[in-house]
Amino acid sequence: MLFKSLVVLGGAALAAAKVQFMGMNIAGFEFGCLIDGTCPTGSVVPPDEGAAQMQHFVKDDQLNIFRLPVSWQFLVNNQLGGTLDSNNFGEYDKLMQDCLATGSYCAIDIHNFARWNGKIIGQAGGPTDDQFADLWKQLATKYNSNTKVIFGLMNEPHNVDMTAWAASCQAAVTAIRNAGATSQMILLPGNNFTSAATFVSGGSGDALLTVKNPDGTTTGLLMDIHKYLDFDNSGNHQDCTTDNKEAFASVAQFLRENGRQAMVSETGAGSTDSCQTAFCAQNAFINQNSDVFMGIIAWAAGSFATSYTLSLTPKKQNGKFVNDKLAAECVVAVWVNAPAVTTPAPIIPVAPVVAPVPAPNTAPPLGPTLAPPAIATPIAAPVNSPASNPPPAVVKPSGTPPVKPGNGSPIVATPPSEEPTLMPVSRIQPTVHPSFTSSVAPLSTGSLSSPPTSNASSPTSGNSTPSATQNSNGLLSSVFSSSLFIGMSGFLGVLLV
Ligand SMILES: *[C@@H]1O[C@H](CO)[C@@H](O)[C@H](O)[C@H]1NC(C)=O
Ligand SMILES: *[C@@H]1O[C@H](CO)[C@@H](O)[C@H](O)[C@H]1NC(C)=O
Repeated sequence: MLFKSLVVLGGAALAAAKVQFMGMNIAGFEFGCLIDGTCPTGSVVPPDEGAAQMQHFVKDDQLNIFRLPVSWQFLVNNQLGGTLDSNNFGEYDKLMQDCLATGSYCAIDIHNFARWNGKIIGQAGGPTDDQFADLWKQLATKYNSNTKVIFGLMNEPHNVDMTAWAASCQAAVTAIRNAGATSQMILLPGNNFTSAATFVSGGSGDALLTVKNPDGTTTGLLMDIHKYLDFDNSGNHQDCTTDNKEAFASVAQFLRENGRQAMVSETGAGSTDSCQTAFCAQNAFINQNSDVFMGIIAWAAGSFATSYTLSLTPKKQNGKFVNDKLAAECVVAVWVNAPAVTTPAPIIPVAPVVAPVPAPNTAPPLGPTLAPPAIATPIAAPVNSPASNPPPAVVKPSGTPPVKPGNGSPIVATPPSEEPTLMPVSRIQPTVHPSFTSSVAPLSTGSLSSPPTSNASSPTSGNSTPSATQNSNGLLSSVFSSSLFIGMSGFLGVLLV
């Protein structure tokens, strides 16, 4: 009611041309995972600074989403088909609760490349779809009451049969929904390391369109998209050779044509001039296409040392976290300072239309986010630009020849049927291959020798509600109180008229 008044008086609302979610990957529980789905649990480096980093990113930078990678092996303590290990899951859940306590959205990421120890899920003698679905059933049961938990089914499948992989995803989606997590976002990853560049041309998009909720809808089912900016899309090089606009335009066009949306759950770049330019340009472009892209989650902070090629780990200075230039400019500023656009007042104003346009940089309200419309309300012309709507998707033929993995790629046992693959080595196996240890040494070696042992808070009951106390509460309440104030003024104004 109050919102209606606001619209009546305002005529048009100002909104930013930007994605609803911006955030960081908090890496560590997946350390050691190789692209063949082997994940030695001894290589895990729990991100001990994760909670403090997330609080910094939320409080100081207004970020509102985090992705928490973890290996399948760690969660079930190497027992394929087994139940969640109370100690290991307890450790992971602590990070999840720390994330939720910031008021942010928090994505589970099973970082297994669609595999368990060299074998593809649901294919060629690998884990069965039932085993994969059972993992998700257990996780969804834990978090079914928490609307801010996002289920990222799998990190970077590659060399999979997409029809079979879509069936594996369907099994997981059905298990999640039937476990009572009926409204949360679920991320569906495609082939070729979930690359934006081949999402459409490689058939990932078409295959994933077939995945549905048990009720036949696709509500909450988002396409998962990754992309790096180095020459081979490995995220292994400090120089950037593309701003990926072509790749993201092709995905955007596909999403619009099919009435769907996506989350960019991994993208990152080196701390170089070429990347500073390209990464900022890429993220601004994704922002401009926020009708189909829900959010960006950058790679990576957490247990990565600040010397890691793609590090976005904030440095501690005088007891405070300070972002590096890339994080400050291309993740935070590009989003926080996104140019404003006007959204026209609806002819018949209704609360849900107004509600999703809070003050910039606040977490979006639950309702519309959790059940995203097939296509978000089109964004009107930027204030200072004659252009209207998101830029038209321009799809040009790719001129980039396939590239082989660079030097230093680890020897990874892959099923013989697989074609040579790109190996995003630096970002996936920080603690295993000796040649990478210098660049990706964990923040604190202490965490290696003394992993967190406190499991006093027993593995979460699924009913644990996020204590969205900290800053987010203040943030939200101040938004609402100012909305109420303006709304009330508007309401009075209407009465006076
Ligand atoms: C995977 O993507 C890379 C570039 O991102 C491309 O060079 C390669 O051809 C793709 N592979 C397949 C099988 O689509
Ligand atoms: C953690 O839980 C396990 C099993 O529930 C128990 O044996 C162990 O003592 C607990 N550890 C701590 C530090 O509380």
